[in-house]
Amino acid sequence: MEIEEFCRKYTVNRKNTNSEKWDTGIEKRFKTEGLIPMWVADMEFRAPDEVIDALNKRISHGVFGYTHLWDSYFEAFFNWQKSRYNIDLKKEWISFSSGLVTALYLIVNAFTNKEDSIIILTPVYYPFHNAIKDNERNLITCDLKNDNGIFTIDFEKLESEIIKNKVKLIIFCNPHNPVGRVWTKEEIEKVFEICKKHDLYIVSDEIHQDINLGVRPFISALSVDNKYYENLIVLNSASKTFNLASLLNSHVIIPNEEIRRKYKKFVGTVNRTEFNLLGLIATEAAYKHGADWVDGLLKTIKRNYEYIKEEFSSKIPEIITSPLEGTYLPFFDLRNMVNKDRVKEFIQDDCKIAIDFGEWFGKNFKGFIRVNIATDFKYIEYFVDKVIKQLKNKSYK
Ligand SMILES: Cc1ncc(COP(=O)(O)O)c(C=O)c1O
Repeated sequence: MEIEEFCRKYTVNRKNTNSEKWDTGIEKRFKTEGLIPMWVADMEFRAPDEVIDALNKRISHGVFGYTHLWDSYFEAFFNWQKSRYNIDLKKEWISFSSGLVTALYLIVNAFTNKEDSIIILTPVYYPFHNAIKDNERNLITCDLKNDNGIFTIDFEKLESEIIKNKVKLIIFCNPHNPVGRVWTKEEIEKVFEICKKHDLYIVSDEIHQDINLGVRPFISALSVDNKYYENLIVLNSASKTFNLASLLNSHVIIPNEEIRRKYKKFVGTVNRTEFNLLGLIATEAAYKHGADWVDGLLKTIKRNYEYIKEEFSSKIPEIITSPLEGTYLPFFDLRNMVNKDRVKEFIQDDCKIAIDFGEWFGKNFKGFIRVNIATDFKYIEYFVDKVIKQLKNKSYK
């Protein structure tokens, strides 16, 4: 689908819809009104028509009683993973959870004990930090290396932190939110090799797998090498790709029988309800019919990103825009123009934009911002225009 058609058919106004991003969350989080929300990672785009039709059909039946999982669900899910990523899935590998973050909390409890160490590569999605800290595990961070906005993994530091802290589990993020990397096969293998050597559980969060802007193919942890299956848990969902987050349907994929048993044993003690009917219906329809919609979405995200990058590089080259390989959440380093302690004053108080602050993702990333660009182009223009004008009008050094 072309950008024009995608945006015309699918862009929506979300104000006054109990949206966390637009309504309920913004005042709570930013303690002010009137901000343009470019924070929470969902989109101003309706799900594909076929998803809405499938939901409408089920809703008009009017009965929402206990339901069995059906075969065509797996067919649609498995075909999507096979045709796009060459992943061969098996039904018995799959468990369901009401969101990836919920799964992370369960996994932390199922595979580690209080005070065990868990490592993450920072800056990274802040619920990773919370899943570790809230469960009283020891949070170990390993900052990515930053070369003028290009982020890579510090393998030596990763291994030394694992050894030093007797780390039991890693939560890996691919594509990586917020630095926008789609990790190469070599990078993934190097991380996994270190983890295997020191007998860590590897949790690979692949929720952004489909938001790939085409620099290189997305490689799932499931397709790197079967030898890692002994340590591996993969999380994915159609929720990020198709804007279905509140339908709470995610996959916990565990190929190894022993790990699977351990996971299910723990989950069985705290959660008896596995899935959400409407989430399943929407996910099946999305995987069956959503490819053209995703094509339009990716073109739109790419157009939005390139517009910002070109405007900034020609008008304020001091802002460092990290290359966006995957996700719709580019990361900007403002430190050449804005004092680390004045980012809120600049972007929130003066530009009136709600973004995610770098330090939410890791303590050493104050001065960076993450911006959600899966939105109407008019907000992209607003963001670019405000940032450029404000930095020309006032010094934030
Ligand atoms: C890396 C990553 N994992 C998980 C999630 C959220 O998953 P869920 O809404 O299924 O809990 C997000 C949302 O932005 C994310 O970026």
